[in-house]
Amino acid sequence: MNKLKLLSNYLNYLIKSDNEHGIHSPFIYEFYNDVIVDKTPFYVYYDIESIRAKLLLANLEINIEDHGAGSKVNSSTTRKIKDVAKHTLKSPKYGQLLFRIVNRLKPKTILELGTSLGLSTLYLAASNKNIKVTTVEGCPNTAKVAQVNFDKIGFKNIELVNDTFDHFLPHFLAQQKNLDFVFFDGNHQQEATLNYFNLCVEKVHNETVFVFDDIHWSEGMTAAWEQIKKHPKVTSTIDLFFVGIVFFKTNLSKENFVLKF
Ligand SMILES: C[S@@+](CC[C@H](N)C(=O)[O-])C[C@H]1O[C@@H](n2cnc3c(N)ncnc32)[C@H](O)[C@@H]1O
Repeated sequence: MNKLKLLSNYLNYLIKSDNEHGIHSPFIYEFYNDVIVDKTPFYVYYDIESIRAKLLLANLEINIEDHGAGSKVNSSTTRKIKDVAKHTLKSPKYGQLLFRIVNRLKPKTILELGTSLGLSTLYLAASNKNIKVTTVEGCPNTAKVAQVNFDKIGFKNIELVNDTFDHFLPHFLAQQKNLDFVFFDGNHQQEATLNYFNLCVEKVHNETVFVFDDIHWSEGMTAAWEQIKKHPKVTSTIDLFFVGIVFFKTNLSKENFVLKF
């Protein structure tokens, strides 16, 4: 999708998205007000953002192994860490949203597909040291930088796996009774995204939440999001344009919200 089309889709989202006044579901209403648009600053935000600030100054070059859809900004295999930090990571706004979702829903385990330098992982792991976060990154050099960041901040509840999603997921899922929370943030292609979703959806329970990154990044990702919304186990979904949130609670109606963020 070219930049102009993305911009026009974003403008369309801004026009058609609702705030809390358009929400009739009590659960989604509360989730929107208390989690999505909550502005409470948490101390840990500063610790994590100070790591980002250092990454944004890092001139060291690393060799990138790309196992996904690639970058729209830089297709070179050698990249400066500061460029990866600038173009690949979720911004503070979305990292902090992940923190608030986890802080509210308190999943016992989290799976993240797509670690990169580990910023979103830190947000996922920060609210409670008893939450076990498994994060998967295919590029060995990128994973090494992420591990340095995890050691630097001292979170002990993160397990970083250097593997491809396709190789890792079947083995991992075979060992899991169920999944509490999954953040899908890598290989943003329609077929791959649906494949990861279809594997993971077998392990959902009533309280499971999936968050998908970049649901409108391309025509393919928008088509994948449409398919995900239709899945019989999916009840309510929230489209925030740059991320999509999926619920499986059976007491929620099958309703797709497009909300301002
Ligand atoms: C968008 S970045 C993740 C950003 C990170 N979640 C954050 O916001 O801090 C996606 C990462 O997924 C990795 N990736 C993409 N496709 C993959 C695959 N098929 N297997 C393993 N890793 C993959 C890429 O190497 C990249 O580092």
